[in-house]
Amino acid sequence: MEKYNTEIFGSSLAGSKYVAEKIKALIELNDSKGVSTVLGLATGSTPVIMYKELIRMHKEDGLSFQNVISFNLDEYSPMQPESEDSYWYFMHENLFNHIDIKAENINVPKGTLSDDDVSTYCNDYEAKIDAAGGLDIQILGIGRTGHIGFNEPGSPEESITRQVTLNQITLDDAAPSFGGVENVPTKAITMGVATVLKAKTIYLMAYGSGKSEIVSETLTSDITSQVPATFLQNHNNTIFVLDNEASSLLPT
Ligand code: GLP
Repeated sequence: MEKYNTEIFGSSLAGSKYVAEKIKALIELNDSKGVSTVLGLATGSTPVIMYKELIRMHKEDGLSFQNVISFNLDEYSPMQPESEDSYWYFMHENLFNHIDIKAENINVPKGTLSDDDVSTYCNDYEAKIDAAGGLDIQILGIGRTGHIGFNEPGSPEESITRQVTLNQITLDDAAPSFGGVENVPTKAITMGVATVLKAKTIYLMAYGSGKSEIVSETLTSDITSQVPATFLQNHNNTIFVLDNEASSLLPT
C-alpha cells in the first residue's frame, strides 16, 4: 500500500489521535514562532473523536487555541446558525465551546444569505482564508458520493467557495438527522475543490466498512470531477487516515 499516502490504524480512535497530535504539534510550533495557525475544519460524524481528543489536549495538556484561526468547509442553506441542525451549532457543541479559541477567529459559512449576497459573501470567504495566510491543515471526511465538503459529483477542480445544490444521495444520508429527507436543506455553501487543494497539508479521515468503496475509488480511479475526492491525487501533501475496514478494498 506504499504507493498511496495512507496511514492505517487498528481503530478510528487511534487514527483520530494521530491527526490530533499533528494539529497540536503545528499549533505549538507556530506558537513558538509567534505566528497563528489556520485550520480548515469539517463536520460529519468522522472528525468528532478527533475533536474530543483536541478538547482533552486543551483541558489536560495545556494546548491553547488562542492563536488559531478556523474556517469551516461548509454549511447548509438555508440554515439559521442557532438551529441544532446547523454546522455552526455542530462545531460549537463538538469543539469550540470546550476550547479557548477566540470567537472572532471562528469562520463558518453563513447559511442565511439572500441570493443577491451569495457571490460577494463567498468571494469574501475565500479572500479571508488567503488573508489569514492560507489553510495550514485542512481536515476532511468523505461523503458516499466522493464529495469533500459539499463538492458534489461534477464539481470542477478550479471551483472556489460557492453555493451548491445537494445530490440526492447526500440528502438521503442527511435525512435521519433531520427527521426525514423533506426537511434537509437542498443547498449549501461550501469551500470549493480549489480552496481545499490550496491547503498546505490535508488529512482525510475515513473509518468503517461503509467508506471502503469510496476510499478505494478515490485513491485508485482516474481523476474525475464525478468523484471530486480524486482531485486529492493532485495534492502533494494529503494523508488518508484510515482504519482497517475503510482500507479493506485498497489493492495491496
Ligand atoms: C457531510 C459533510 C462532509 C462529510 C460527510 C460525511 O456531507 N458535508 O464534510 O465528510 O458528510 O459525513 P460522515 O463523517 O458523517 O460520514
